[in-house]
Amino acid sequence: MTIRPLGLDPSHCLIDAEWRAPLSGTSLPLINPSDGSTLCDIASGAADDIDAAVDAARGAYNGIWGRSTALERGRVLARIGQLVLDHKDELARLEALDVGKPYKQAMADVVALARYMEFYGGAADKLHGETIPYLDGYTVYTLREPHGVTGHIIPWNYPMQIIGRSVGAALAVGNACVLKPAEEACLTALAFAELARRAGLPDGALNVVPGRGAQAGAALSAHGGVDHLSFTGSVGVGKLIQSSAAAHITPVTLELGGKSPQLVFEDADLAAALPFLVNAGIQNAGQTCSASSRILVHESRFEEVTSAMAARFEALVAGLALDDLDLGPLVSQRQKDIVEGFIAQGADLELAATGQIAQNAPSGGAYVAPHLFTCHDPQHSLAQDEIFGPVQVIIPFRDEDHAVEIANGTKYGLVASCWTRDGARQMRMARKLRAGQVFLNNYGAGGGVELPFGGAGMSGHGREKGFEALYGFSTLKTVAAYHG
Ligand code: NAI
Ligand code: MG
Repeated sequence: MTIRPLGLDPSHCLIDAEWRAPLSGTSLPLINPSDGSTLCDIASGAADDIDAAVDAARGAYNGIWGRSTALERGRVLARIGQLVLDHKDELARLEALDVGKPYKQAMADVVALARYMEFYGGAADKLHGETIPYLDGYTVYTLREPHGVTGHIIPWNYPMQIIGRSVGAALAVGNACVLKPAEEACLTALAFAELARRAGLPDGALNVVPGRGAQAGAALSAHGGVDHLSFTGSVGVGKLIQSSAAAHITPVTLELGGKSPQLVFEDADLAAALPFLVNAGIQNAGQTCSASSRILVHESRFEEVTSAMAARFEALVAGLALDDLDLGPLVSQRQKDIVEGFIAQGADLELAATGQIAQNAPSGGAYVAPHLFTCHDPQHSLAQDEIFGPVQVIIPFRDEDHAVEIANGTKYGLVASCWTRDGARQMRMARKLRAGQVFLNNYGAGGGVELPFGGAGMSGHGREKGFEALYGFSTLKTVAAYHG
């Protein structure tokens, strides 16, 4: 099978509104993780292609796109959002096949992408500066301006959602973008760029160069013509990107995942919590930056929570993405090997439950059954490291202080949640937990396009999503006029 997203040749890059073969002429196979087959070949873009893409973006920024009004940008984004919805079935199918996520989860990502376009389309003309009272005879005001050319290096786990939050916000402000999707999954990035072109986004305002991280990604992060970089992915690559950006003092926004806890107190409503405790761990087979991979439970309810979660885990089934079960495969055999390595490290823990792999799941697929462990050592690698697979650990705590100590005791700080009916405790926890987002009696709040998102510590820095992202994708100019 060769897949042609929206009829496109998937081995091309989009540069200056033209679909072109990569200058290197080389390609990479794109694997369907549900069965190991090759979906198609994609471009293996490299430094020359990145140069051309950055030039095209610069041309757009110095041209029609750079002169567009906020109203015009908002309308283009709204049209892109509508085209995304008009093609929702094809986009969901592409994402399901490419990433391996169950169809329903892929469809939720399509809807979120459209919602990002709607949100940032509506926000484009609401971003403004201020006037500042100053010395006698002066008028001082600030202008919110785009950075110029922005680079976006995105991962494979939620391509559409991450394009929405990152490219959507950057375009709303008036930046021209170069997008480097992940080599494991890039079909919806290609389809999105084509829909943006069809919606009337001016030539060069969005360019897409698929390719290997060490080639296309490294070239983009080291490029002196890029004025801002946003990256979502691993801590290791985040460090490389921040240090290569340092050569040109290019500002970076980094979102590097986490080890996000949910805290279940003695007064928690377990019936309400249970679906969130499990889903936040196994959604997208656990390959989610904000996955909740640690469940911290007050010792008085440890047994009860463990057996309730175990019963759910035993009923979970992983299978073909298009069969739309609880989980699909992991994105690749490589990711499966990483996750199986962690499961092997759990040999000294108590295995509370495992889920199943569907009988018809092809042997060439990257399937991993969900694993639930209990863990009495918060320093254990399964309680410290990002696993990025369907593996959760349940850890007991004695009291509030102990819970905070464990919750904050990793190098990460992306998301945390608290299940308690005690209002004062909710407020204390919201203050004490080290995380960019804290949820009280929920987890994830349904995706939350409107909600600023980002981390502390090794989870990264900068905020994406919500109106806040528009500040990150813009820069402030102060104008001081002396008129006497
Ligand atoms: P990765 O960090 O290598 O890949 C993410 C993106 O960075 C891809 O587009 C890749 O091509 C690009 N990239 C890779 N090397 C690069 C370089 N030297 N310069 C510039 N760009 C580069 O992540 P990978 O290897 O796919 O996954 C490994 C682990 O990373 C996962 O197990 C998970 O723990 C973490 N991860 C976290 C994500 C998140 O949402 N925060 C997303 C993906 C991975
Ligand atoms: Mg793939």
